[in-house]
Amino acid sequence: MNELDAIVDSAKTSFVEAATPVDLENAKARFLGKAGRITELMKGMAALSVEEKKSRGAAINVAKQAIEAALNERRQALAEAELQAQLQAEALDVTLPGRARGNGGLHPVSLTMERIEAIFGSMGFEVAQGPEIEADWFNFTALNTPEDHPARSMHDTFYVEGGSEKAPNLLRTHTSPVQVRHALQHVKQHRALIEAGLPMPEIRVICPGRTYRVDSDATHSPMFHQCEGLWIGENVSFKDLKFVFTDLCRTFFERDDLVLRFRPSFFPFTEPSAEIDIQFQSGPLAGRWLEVAGSGQVHPNVVRNMGLDPEKHIGFAFGMGLDRFTMLRYGVNDLRLFFDGDIRFLSQFR
Ligand code: DAH
Repeated sequence: MNELDAIVDSAKTSFVEAATPVDLENAKARFLGKAGRITELMKGMAALSVEEKKSRGAAINVAKQAIEAALNERRQALAEAELQAQLQAEALDVTLPGRARGNGGLHPVSLTMERIEAIFGSMGFEVAQGPEIEADWFNFTALNTPEDHPARSMHDTFYVEGGSEKAPNLLRTHTSPVQVRHALQHVKQHRALIEAGLPMPEIRVICPGRTYRVDSDATHSPMFHQCEGLWIGENVSFKDLKFVFTDLCRTFFERDDLVLRFRPSFFPFTEPSAEIDIQFQSGPLAGRWLEVAGSGQVHPNVVRNMGLDPEKHIGFAFGMGLDRFTMLRYGVNDLRLFFDGDIRFLSQFR
């Protein structure tokens, strides 16, 4: 092998051995750089004759081109390898299953609320909201519950800061105060009609929401849900209450054979008052009377506190337990399950 072939061979070997672009450029310098082997050979031609320069120069050029070709080949190979390595490192396996986000769902009590709002909505009732921190006056006094009336101790009330000793603030013990709030607003809105002795549009409203009492066991929670109903007009009677509530229960439970019983009772804000019981004719609860709401004809004092004349405006009210309705609908026997936040329980209602 002549000297030039040996240099080309040696360059090819060095290039193949270069593992990185930096190694490769260093190897290149050893052959093609200023002090490289080929450059040295070129310099060595100075002493040759013109004829010799021609043939020697041509031979060196061939060797140089071979080295450059090998260099470029290796450069490309290293660049390709680098790209492949990078692609591999950043590879995404698009065939992996995605990380799904669990679908949330409404809480069972919210489902009940929506259902009840829809049913009453279809009967022309609007929906009103009231504050959960309530004034003593709205929660008790306006509802015909005198200062030392035993009804006040019937409810174990959470009192909260703010307000005065005579007018304390509390967590509302029922949704009934929203009756009064809503009626007062209604009366204000229609004051001109009322003052002119013209008929006022009827009040037909439900008020769902959270309520609070100092109480806790399998069927009582310190926070629970009620829905109040109020229908006031000039020609509304107990028979309308019966009709509305029967329709509500049969639609809600999807049972045409559901039976209702209005059992005489006492509430300060109604006279007469009745407890409403329902009875299923089939299923696990068949034949048992289940108490689901309180109701009655709105007491004249309450009608007066609403800014209306009880001689003219008459109506009925009711208050139902939304948690109770939910338990009966889904067959849940412990109220606390609704408020523990256990996803295994709650996901069953999605
Ligand atoms: N507020 C009562 C309670 O919490 C329920 C109730 C009874 C509401 C009779 C009413 C009613 O509107 O007329 O136990």
